[in-house]
Amino acid sequence: MTTVIDGKQVAASVIDAVKTASQALTEQTGVKTGLAVVIVGNDPASHAYVSSKSKMAKECGFTSVQHTLPEETTQAELAALVQTLNKDESLHGILVQLPLPKHFNSEAIIQSILPEKDVDGLHVVNAGKLATGDLDGGLVSCTPAGAMVFVKRTHGEDLSGLNAVVIGRSNLFGKPMAQLLLAANATVTVAHSRTKDLASVCRSADILVAAVGRPEMVKADWVKPGATVIDVGINRIAAPEKGEGKSRLVGDVAFDECAKVAAVITPVPGGVGPMTIAMLMANTVIAAYRKAGKAAPKF
Ligand code: GUN
Repeated sequence: MTTVIDGKQVAASVIDAVKTASQALTEQTGVKTGLAVVIVGNDPASHAYVSSKSKMAKECGFTSVQHTLPEETTQAELAALVQTLNKDESLHGILVQLPLPKHFNSEAIIQSILPEKDVDGLHVVNAGKLATGDLDGGLVSCTPAGAMVFVKRTHGEDLSGLNAVVIGRSNLFGKPMAQLLLAANATVTVAHSRTKDLASVCRSADILVAAVGRPEMVKADWVKPGATVIDVGINRIAAPEKGEGKSRLVGDVAFDECAKVAAVITPVPGGVGPMTIAMLMANTVIAAYRKAGKAAPKF
């Protein structure tokens, strides 16, 4: 029997733990966890994501601040806002929603966030801590951290002897995912668009993680029987069967056929997606504990 991971349920359990941790911090120190989310421009998908982040922060009992800036905002104006948020003692996490409009130097903005408030885990200090195996000192990018919760709930904390293949090498996902798997003792291969015979590389994986942005690219014969398959893709494709002009979301994995081969698989939607926001809340409460000089909870 194949296990289909219920991402909503796992995310809800993380959120419960975040609420408990946040309340305990307030009781012990009087500190209320605070998150600032910044969005620039009019992209409707980004607005939807940001609203759910702000709303979830409120649900967790955090101080939740949202800055919604117009498309014409300048680099200097956004940089000044980040400096103000960096200095604000009531805020423990800062997230600038990406992508920023084209006229921005996004990297300069991301790197200007204080590393200890970088709840996206994108600052080079946090990327460097992860790369050197310092998992308890920095903040880990939310989507890989969420995918790793699934891996650990399936295989335990120690992945010794297991082969993991990550398809995709982005800074936002592929690289940090590979480093998390490596830190847990997996034997890790990072595959990408230039990899030769991707199917056979994937077939060697006990843990296969797909983050390429190509709808249903991973087929059943790419999956080792009994593997754990984590699908990080979110692709909108035409769904004429639902009516003219309709669409649906699919992952990077051809779910129905791969589910017949895998032992454990995540669906899209409802797999990794809900975990990203949950891990953002987890990172924010971790940042608040550290600022208060307390040992941070683990999620
Ligand atoms: N846009 C899409 N995903 C993310 C994310 O994880 N963080 C930020 N800042 N922007 C995003």
